[in-house]
Formats: sequence, C-alpha cells, structure tokens
Amino acid sequence: MRIFALPLVLVFFACVEATSPPLVSATITAGPMVGSVTHETARVWVQTAEEAQLHLEIRAEGKDWMGFGPGGVHLTRENQFSGFAEVRVQPNTRYQYRFVSDHAELLPVSEQSFRTPPAPDESGSFTVAFGSCAGSWGLHPDQPIWRAINNLHPDVFLWLGDNIYFERDTKEWEDVGKMQARWKTQRAMPSLQPMLRRTVNLATWDDHDYGPNNSDGTWRLKEESLKLFRNYWANPDNPTSVPGVMHSYRWGKVEFFLLDTRFHRSPNKAKNGPGKSVLGETQWAWLEHALKTSAADFKVIVSAMQVLPDYHDFESWKLFPSDRQRLFDFLANHQITGAFILSGDRHIGELLQREIPRLPYPLTEFTASPLAAGFGTPPPDEQVPSRVPGTSVEGEQFGVLRFTTPQNGPPYVELQAFHADGKPAWKARRIEITDLGAQGD
Ligand SMILES: [Fe+2]
Repeated sequence: MRIFALPLVLVFFACVEATSPPLVSATITAGPMVGSVTHETARVWVQTAEEAQLHLEIRAEGKDWMGFGPGGVHLTRENQFSGFAEVRVQPNTRYQYRFVSDHAELLPVSEQSFRTPPAPDESGSFTVAFGSCAGSWGLHPDQPIWRAINNLHPDVFLWLGDNIYFERDTKEWEDVGKMQARWKTQRAMPSLQPMLRRTVNLATWDDHDYGPNNSDGTWRLKEESLKLFRNYWANPDNPTSVPGVMHSYRWGKVEFFLLDTRFHRSPNKAKNGPGKSVLGETQWAWLEHALKTSAADFKVIVSAMQVLPDYHDFESWKLFPSDRQRLFDFLANHQITGAFILSGDRHIGELLQREIPRLPYPLTEFTASPLAAGFGTPPPDEQVPSRVPGTSVEGEQFGVLRFTTPQNGPPYVELQAFHADGKPAWKARRIEITDLGAQGD
C-alpha cells in the first residue's frame, strides 16, 4: 500500500535544552491508534523508534487544523516510546488528525480520522466490532483478519483479551523485556495499522496478555503487566480506587462495561464460596453502581471469559459460582433492562441465551474467538442447550454489533459473526430494546 512507501520521518527543528540529547528525527513504528473518544475528548496513541515530543492536531472535515495547546505527548525509553495524547472535541463530528512537531506531518491525513459519539442522551447509529485471541500461532501469523474488520468500517473495536500471547515455550511472561518485545511486535503488525488509525480501540485483557495460562490475582508480575497494558492502550480511565483495566465507555444511548477478570481474580482452584471472586469487591461495587445508575438503553457487559455456559469445563464464570449468581441476582433484583454480554477466550464462537430467574428477558451472550490463533471445533447444538441454534462458528472470526435508532420505533441492535475473510458466519439477528425488558419510547 502506498502509505507504507512514504517516509515516516519527521525532522525536528525545535530547540532542545542544551543538556538534552538532540532530537533529530522520529519514526513512527506503530499506529497512530485511536483510543477512547467520547463526546468531549479524544485520545490517540502512537509509538516511535526513539524519544520524541509530539502534538496531536485535529480538524473537523472542511475546517482548519486546531493548533497547539493541550494534546502533547512525550515518548521516552521508559514507556517504550509509546503513549497517547488527548484533545477536546465536539460531539457527533468526524475529525481528521495528525501528530506533528513544528507543523511537520508524520503521515498523510487521508488515512487518519475518527468519529465522535453523540452526547450520552442522544440517538445515533453506530457499529462495533469485537474479538479476542490475537497471536502468531494460528493459520495466519500475519493476521489478515484486520483487513476484513477494517473493510466494515466499524466505529469502535473492542479487544476482549489475549490481545497478544506471551509465548509459552520461552515463558515470556517471566521476563519484562520479552513482554515488552511481544507487545511491540504485535502492535506494529502491518495488517493492523489501517484499522487502528480510524477506529476507536478499547481493550480489556485475559490470561495470555497478563501472565501465564489461566493466571489470576496471585501472579507476581501483575504490576509490571499492568504498566505495559497502560503503555499500549488509550482506554478511558479506571473508575475504581484499585489497580486494573476495568472501565466503562458510552456511545450515545449505549454503554459498555469492560471488566478486569484477572488482576483481582481468585485462583480457579480456590474453594467455592463468597470469598472466591472473579472481580474482587471494589470492582463489584463499581459495576453494580454503574449498572444501576446508567441511563443508557443498551448495557453491554464485556467479559474476557464466558459467563453463561455450563456445558464445558474450560475457564468461565461457572468456576466462580457465587460471583456468577451475584451477577444474575443483581440484574434481576434491580430489574436492569437492556443488558447483554460479550465474551471471547474460547477459540470457538457462539450465541447463547439463558433464562435468569426473575429477570424479565433471557440473557444473551455473544462469544467470538479467535481473531488469529489456533481454534477448536464447537460441540454440536444438541450438546449446548443454551446456544441459539446455528450460531456456532469455527475458525478465525470476529463479531459485529450494529446499533440503530430509528425515527419511529424502538432502538435495536443487530448481532452478526464473521469469518476472517469477511464473509458472514450467520445471518444477522436483531434484538430490539423491548426484547430486553425495556418499554418502547
Ligand atoms: Fe486465547
């Protein structure tokens, strides 16, 4: 592609302090990647080959570039020359952006834009894609699936964990230098760049981008792992008083709750009981309060591992019976409307539905995995009573949610799974807000 043939070199003319090493040039090695974009602020991440002081500039289509001010980012060796800048934006607007220093452009502007959401109480249609498990050990180590995802022009992409794999043979998770190198390699993947540059990217993690297989809150390098995660993503801030990658994100009348199912997790083998938790008490308190007070029509609960299934013994919330029951009871006791679940991790895809006592609608869970890694064969529908028949997917895949707010009638979301080549795996399934316990407007 032409863009990769262009020199991505910026000459710095800026004066530097006499004591600082001279900054001669900055070469972008990954991104830019659009991070959290709300109706008020936008974060854009970038990584360079060497130390750099960059500024993020934006312009609404057809308008002039908005100049310097807030929006700077200093990329240093300490943060692997990666980080994000933040600027203020208006709702419901498409912006072009560029990283500059002394007004020199780093990349052609045509490739770089994002759309801001409407204000939280306003309608607006948008598309979300999601997936999990992106490694180099599958059929396609160069991960061509990103081109298929980008071709659908999603507004948001949700990374549901195992976003990289610390390699098993060399136990990369034991060595911070190797962990850094793994992140750097994945983020620079050529097939990924076009999607990163035009899509809001939000992430949670799972075991393989956190530590060893099936790791939990006892993992000794979890603080280092969290530091790396924060270097490589530009999520909304963690709203809790404890460390972790949990956050919520609002697009118009839809709110996403991305859970951290690793940092505070009890070991899978811990004795069942109220003390055995996926989320830990502080994260629970945040989630419950956020769900109870959310004015969004749709409330999308995002968990790396599956929540609903009872039919398998891989990792899932089934291993944490009191936490799972707490979630079901909370939804029912507070009559939370508009909720459904996204998950990954399983290396198969499926759509599940389960009746929850006293909840006035079946709870839906949409699982998509892997993006690029080994995959399994889903058991047949007759062995999975909670599966919506015909929705199992084998192979590299991703999920799509199209939220629509029509002029007349209730808002709805269409769910659809896609294979890595961009072909639909099953026909889109539509869920109206009134199917999720809510009154129509
Ligand atoms: Fe995985």
